[in-house]
Amino acid sequence: MSIKIKNLNKSFGNLNILKDVSLDINKGEIISIIGPSGSGKSTLLRCFIDLEKIDSGTLEVFRSPLVCDKRNPGKKEKTEILKKMGMVFQSFNLFPHKTALENVMEPLIVVDKVKKEAALKKAMEILTMVGLEDRMNNYPQALSGGQQQRVAIARVLARNPKILLFDEPTSALDPEMVKEVLTVIESLRDTGITMVIVSHEMKFVKQVSDRVVFMDCGTILSCDTPDKIFNSAENERISKFLNNF
Ligand SMILES: Nc1ncnc2c1ncn2[C@@H]1O[C@H](COP(=O)(O)OP(=O)(O)OP(=O)(O)O)[C@@H](O)[C@H]1O
Ligand SMILES: [Mg+2]
Repeated sequence: MSIKIKNLNKSFGNLNILKDVSLDINKGEIISIIGPSGSGKSTLLRCFIDLEKIDSGTLEVFRSPLVCDKRNPGKKEKTEILKKMGMVFQSFNLFPHKTALENVMEPLIVVDKVKKEAALKKAMEILTMVGLEDRMNNYPQALSGGQQQRVAIARVLARNPKILLFDEPTSALDPEMVKEVLTVIESLRDTGITMVIVSHEMKFVKQVSDRVVFMDCGTILSCDTPDKIFNSAENERISKFLNNF
């Protein structure tokens, strides 16, 4: 088991945003989360990496409790758990004054205390893997959106995450750049990395996911194989949503 959440609740003020959400994500599994705007997809993902504090419930990562009603881990233990996870956002969040290579090296050196030479080697290797071998010395402003997002993915990948979270990684991209980013994500399929992907790219979701979670109004309405979700004519809410695509 990679992530296990049980009866997770999260409110903003008196608005109940996540309501008793429970979900088990297996090791190496690719889970997509779809659903209408405001249904709580981003909030759920942010809870996974402790960017949002949950109000109640249990969240375990590789069987270690990250947040738990009964026992809260110490700061050091929490850091160790969070180290296993990486998140890619809609906006690439690269350092504008650093090259692609420096952007990937930075967290390795600063956070993981990797020696500069080893960080350089690793960063070059990963940037090559995402198809940016001839762009390593470019600053973000000289890169297309798709290339910048691939740098952002490389930056997270370089740290050897066991779990990768994507929050609408292609939503800020021009249509012609969506495919190159999705191809990189799909290429990670056999690495054994667990992936949770919030996306509106339904064709991609259908093709890449082991299971699809449909969220509505802060609850998981359905969690099933892509086939079942995309042919769920009997569920009016889901088919109504899917008809928009
Ligand atoms: N920091 C916050 N403070 C107050 N309300 C918030 C905050 N973050 C999110 N919300 C509210 O929580 C609800 C769920 O938001 P969330 O961003 O998780 O939705 P989403 O499913 O990711 O939507 P989208 O598809 O538009 O990205 C929304 O009603 C939103 O306004
Ligand atoms: Mg969102």
